[in-house]
Amino acid sequence: MAPGGTGRGTGTEMVEKKAGLNRMLALEMGRVTERAAVCSALWVGRGDEKSADQAAVDAMRKELNVLDIDGTVVIGEGERDEAPMLYIGEKVGTGKGPKVDIALDPLEGTTLTAKAMPNAMAVLAAAEGGTLLNAPDTYMDKIAIGGGFPEGLIDLDATPAENIKALAKAKKTDVSEITVCILDRPRHAELIRAVREVGARVTLITDGDIAGVIATTDPETGVDLYMGVGGAPEGVLAAAALRCIGGQMQGRLVTSSEEQKARAAKMGVKDFNKKYDHTEMASGDVIFAATGVTDGWLLDGIHHRDGGVTTHTIVMRSATGTVRRLKSFHAYLDKFQ
Ligand code: FBP
Repeated sequence: MAPGGTGRGTGTEMVEKKAGLNRMLALEMGRVTERAAVCSALWVGRGDEKSADQAAVDAMRKELNVLDIDGTVVIGEGERDEAPMLYIGEKVGTGKGPKVDIALDPLEGTTLTAKAMPNAMAVLAAAEGGTLLNAPDTYMDKIAIGGGFPEGLIDLDATPAENIKALAKAKKTDVSEITVCILDRPRHAELIRAVREVGARVTLITDGDIAGVIATTDPETGVDLYMGVGGAPEGVLAAAALRCIGGQMQGRLVTSSEEQKARAAKMGVKDFNKKYDHTEMASGDVIFAATGVTDGWLLDGIHHRDGGVTTHTIVMRSATGTVRRLKSFHAYLDKFQ
């Protein structure tokens, strides 16, 4: 037996048997989000959301296309007729490697970037083909908590008061100690009122609900629960992250017009009222990578140093539950332009 071994085989053997995606791909995905973050960071605080987003899209696409994968964008910048790059269905990679579905948000928080506000990041998930929910570009009603709680503790169909009380009980604390993160939008006025009425705290964010969901997994953020309506693509990316880092999430598409319903149907959605949990939104082996653009809950942003920039990236795999944080220095800034 290897020193310190369990007799059940080495860790590596066990890991490789479970893993569907090549683990080296995880580090490659981190390189892709690094490049997108560095390029969009050139636009931090410049009030130009479009250019910041375009810089991230260009960089992410360029970097994905040198990877030896047979990739298909399943969640991207939009449909082909409206997004010239990284559109849904676009093939990425050299085509030589494994078949991989890609969900991406090259710049999550375009407004945060333009205004130099916290929590902007470049985000990517790679999964075994056919295992990510092909979410249309509509809204999704979401609820999420971090790991370590009994399955089904929270429920999208329960009232805010019921969910908060259930979480407080599981945490053996008082409802007044629970903090709920919610996007600051007029549509959430009633939700915010209900959360405060039960005695919990509300942390409002102006944008960036992928970070809001992931914040529930880290006690240091002070966020216990995420609730509210945000983008459906962001919902799937957040679900992919929770599959790796732990936690629970439920989401239901919000389709408010016939046109949106038609778009969802075109992407394979049959039941518009279906409540998805995170294991249905990202059901297979999945890798999640994100690099900070501005400082945030999860990641430090891009910082300029003599002769280059530093990046902070998180890379996680559902197959092993590995969560890696990479702090890197990138010399010669001009090569990213
Ligand atoms: P962008 O990066 O595309 O601007 O999206 C940011 C975001 O705040 C998401 O995190 C969130 O899911 C969505 O927008 C909310 O949409 P809306 O601004 O329409 O309420």
